[in-house]
Amino acid sequence: NYPWPALPSGADPAWLPPAPERGSLRLKLAGVGPLIDTVRAELAELTGAGAGQLVDGTAEADVVFTTADRADELASGDLAGFDVESAEGLSQEGFAVLRQAGRVAVVGGSDRGLLYGYHHWRRQLRNGTAADGPEAEIHAPATAIRMLNHWDNMAVHPVMGQVERGYSGGSLFYADGALREDLTRVHHYARLLASTGINRVALNNVNVGPLEATLLTERLGDVVRLAEIFRAQGIAVHLSVNFSSPMLLGGLPSADPADPDVAQWWSRTADAIYAEIPDFGGFLVKADSEGQPGPYRYGRDHAEGANMLARAVAPHGGLVFWRAFVYNHQQDWRDRSTDRARAAFDHFVPLDGGFDENVILQVKYGPMDFQVREPVSPVIGAMPGTRLAAEFQVTQEYTGQQKHACYLAPLWSQVLGFDFEGEDVGGGESRRVSGLVDAVVAVSNVGADEHWCGHPFAQANLFAFGRLAWDPALAPEDILREWVQSTYDDVELRDVVVELLRDSWQTYEDYTAPLGVGWMVRPGQHYGPDVDGYEYTPWGTYHFADREGIGVDRTVATGTGFTGQYPLPWAARYEQLDSCPDELLLFFHHVPYTHRLGSGETVIQHIYDTHFAGVERVEEMVAAWETVRHRAPAPVAQRVSERFAEQLRSAVEWRDQLTTYFSRKSGVADEHGRHIHP
Ligand code: GCU
Repeated sequence: NYPWPALPSGADPAWLPPAPERGSLRLKLAGVGPLIDTVRAELAELTGAGAGQLVDGTAEADVVFTTADRADELASGDLAGFDVESAEGLSQEGFAVLRQAGRVAVVGGSDRGLLYGYHHWRRQLRNGTAADGPEAEIHAPATAIRMLNHWDNMAVHPVMGQVERGYSGGSLFYADGALREDLTRVHHYARLLASTGINRVALNNVNVGPLEATLLTERLGDVVRLAEIFRAQGIAVHLSVNFSSPMLLGGLPSADPADPDVAQWWSRTADAIYAEIPDFGGFLVKADSEGQPGPYRYGRDHAEGANMLARAVAPHGGLVFWRAFVYNHQQDWRDRSTDRARAAFDHFVPLDGGFDENVILQVKYGPMDFQVREPVSPVIGAMPGTRLAAEFQVTQEYTGQQKHACYLAPLWSQVLGFDFEGEDVGGGESRRVSGLVDAVVAVSNVGADEHWCGHPFAQANLFAFGRLAWDPALAPEDILREWVQSTYDDVELRDVVVELLRDSWQTYEDYTAPLGVGWMVRPGQHYGPDVDGYEYTPWGTYHFADREGIGVDRTVATGTGFTGQYPLPWAARYEQLDSCPDELLLFFHHVPYTHRLGSGETVIQHIYDTHFAGVERVEEMVAAWETVRHRAPAPVAQRVSERFAEQLRSAVEWRDQLTTYFSRKSGVADEHGRHIHP
């Protein structure tokens, strides 16, 4: 049996509040197995909270939960009358919801599928659609691997803190250099993830410090404990590993992937892990990136590095997630020929076809680094011989750090739906990002914070990520409704929160960086405006604003040639000024402030207008929130109000700094004569 310790009363249950509905449902569960026990514990929690009662034996049930392999056996009993045939051929993670005369059967393709089916039904119970609906709903995930990466450190890093780019307090897993004693919240976190379909997590930061490196060996016991908790929710754990581990931990003189002693050390280490954790997911590696060690140190390429690790875990069915985030972070700003946007493609595309079957190349969704707006990384369309993962940030490093309400599903949905052959040309599903990747991965936004995510509304992003990874075709607004219905009881509150969040990504873009230019943030911390903060740094992140104009010329004709990394029609669309989408104009082109966008506005007027409009929109959000805040649980109400106050302050700061900067640079007045600080 798998009972989990209860959250302390009053703790924020996020989107799994204990009682979706009070009622008299008779619930029956058939089957045995560890994940069946998890479903049983879920049902016990529901009935304990007043949703009905659990029945067994030959008692009649209103809702039956079972797996496809038992469907035949049950056809004459509990499943009599249901359209059981439509549940044939379910995938392992898939499930069917069958309905018959007010009764419901949830049939999993396996016990894991049943767990996902249970949560689907639970959401329907909550929004009142469980009993009436189609006779048979069939669901299966579009992407096999749906993963979160934790950038959690065990030791507190002097600059990055306990969680790198974490905005939710400390780590859920670690405190003060050790695994937490009390892992109650990890049980609930794992439940929250399973309820959205997440099936893998990496437990430590991709920048692996000396203490964290020991999770592989000395501290494996900590990983065993976490793996047990996640396993009960159908989630496999991974470790981020330091490429120099054979030196750091094994005392070897090198970590050269071509050295047989090195390969052997990794194999032995993997064997030891799998002896303790038979369903261990594998490794996640940041190599030759921002100072991390990697195969380049030994004159080897990334396929050689990745394959050596892959061979260590292959006998156990493990995977290696190898990140494509490799670029020169010590660039000279005077050098206009080096373009960070080109780097991943230049490093990895020549290696296509050279990676082992159990290597997954993990590519950030954009060519730079999680900016509020970037084109889709051309790497994803250029490596047909390599298994790929698209990497996102649920953590809001560049999108308001969970102080700003910024619902990111519309961004992710756009990326996953991007068709490398062009919508109108029609590559269709197979040339969409979602059809080209085996895995959808994101950096988690969760921490020890009492609301899990710092901003209670940032929970919507965590929920939405899992749902979109499961089904990239879901509409972001529908996911938002699902989340709000699961999370809050009050109907009016739900409507206003949907209204507030729906376009909040667009609003955030409006008052921050215009037209795809990115990077106008304070260096290091990445919060708040600093237009020239990165302009003369080694990071390769420039906007090149002068008195005439702004933007990065990445064309083949006169710029860095980055547009040439896309297939047609995108290469041509991005190359030509008149076909480049407005929202990405400054990513691809350097243009005069007076250049007219497709919308008819000039660039400078667009900058003024969006910044004024963005702040007005935040003011409206704050006002709308004030009308419903009393309908939210008191701690949520207070936290959201605090965050909105900061969002408004910050949005005003962004508007004022950006409008002043560009009016000074360009000397062009606002057509509408609004006040711009001199
Ligand atoms: C960003 C982020 C870093 C992180 C890096 C990565 O640059 O600011 O904190 O380590 O991405 O993805 O590896």
